[in-house]
Amino acid sequence: MKGVVLAGGTGSRLYPITKVTNKHLLPVYDEPMIYYPIKTLLAANITDILIIVGGESIGDFLKLLGSGKELGANITYRAQIGSAGIPVALALAKEFIGNSKFMVVLGDNIMEDSLKKEAEIFEKNDAGSHIFVKEVKDPERYGVVEVKENKVIKITEKPKQPKSNLIASGVYMFSPKVFDIIPNLKPSARGEIEISDVLNMFIKNNNLSFSGIEGYWTDAGTLESLYHANTIVRNKKTKK
Ligand code: DAU
Repeated sequence: MKGVVLAGGTGSRLYPITKVTNKHLLPVYDEPMIYYPIKTLLAANITDILIIVGGESIGDFLKLLGSGKELGANITYRAQIGSAGIPVALALAKEFIGNSKFMVVLGDNIMEDSLKKEAEIFEKNDAGSHIFVKEVKDPERYGVVEVKENKVIKITEKPKQPKSNLIASGVYMFSPKVFDIIPNLKPSARGEIEISDVLNMFIKNNNLSFSGIEGYWTDAGTLESLYHANTIVRNKKTKK
């Protein structure tokens, strides 16, 4: 299986910290943020990785990661101009992916679990998409997942009144079918093409599976979540 890390976007919620550097190059305790999604892919035995980077920072990513050899990865880069949405960045992976199934990790997602087993299962079965869900205290910041009779029936992006505490993390597995769905999506009320709309299309076709995340998981895209990510990673890494 191949892997994709999405590290485009503007990092506007962290301004002015992100005025002269890219969000995904900021430290999370002892490593740059981008190391964590790369390591999530490596832990799932995925070494062939495409990184989508924000247009202005591609040189900095190259300087930090190079070919990926130091981390045990084989890294390819593509630049996203603008920040029109997660699926827009994902669409840039079409040629790299070809006919294989793949895992996508958002560049600001930090998690403890190894997803190796889930990746092996997904590669063999005929599911078109898979999400990893987690209960959180502030679901209104995320794609909120509604489950009925052990099936995901709907995902709502950043609802004002969430119907559950269960959210879709920024780790996904897809078949190349996803590239047929993306061009047909329309921007949401906040003007972005939404990954939740991609997932709802798979739900409509009865083609989305899901599993839970056992260990810690957080994003690091706001001041509070970046601080939280530093704390939980530090606690984990310094635990005797
Ligand atoms: O972290 C999980 C959440 O991530 C999900 O629950 C939501 O459904 C999903 O929409 C997303 O929400 P965020 O508001 O956190 O997304 P954000 O705009 O912060 O983008 C997350 C990452 O995606 C970011 O670190 C880089 C990448 N990205 C984003 C955009 C908008 C791109 O590569 N290009 C883009 O144009």
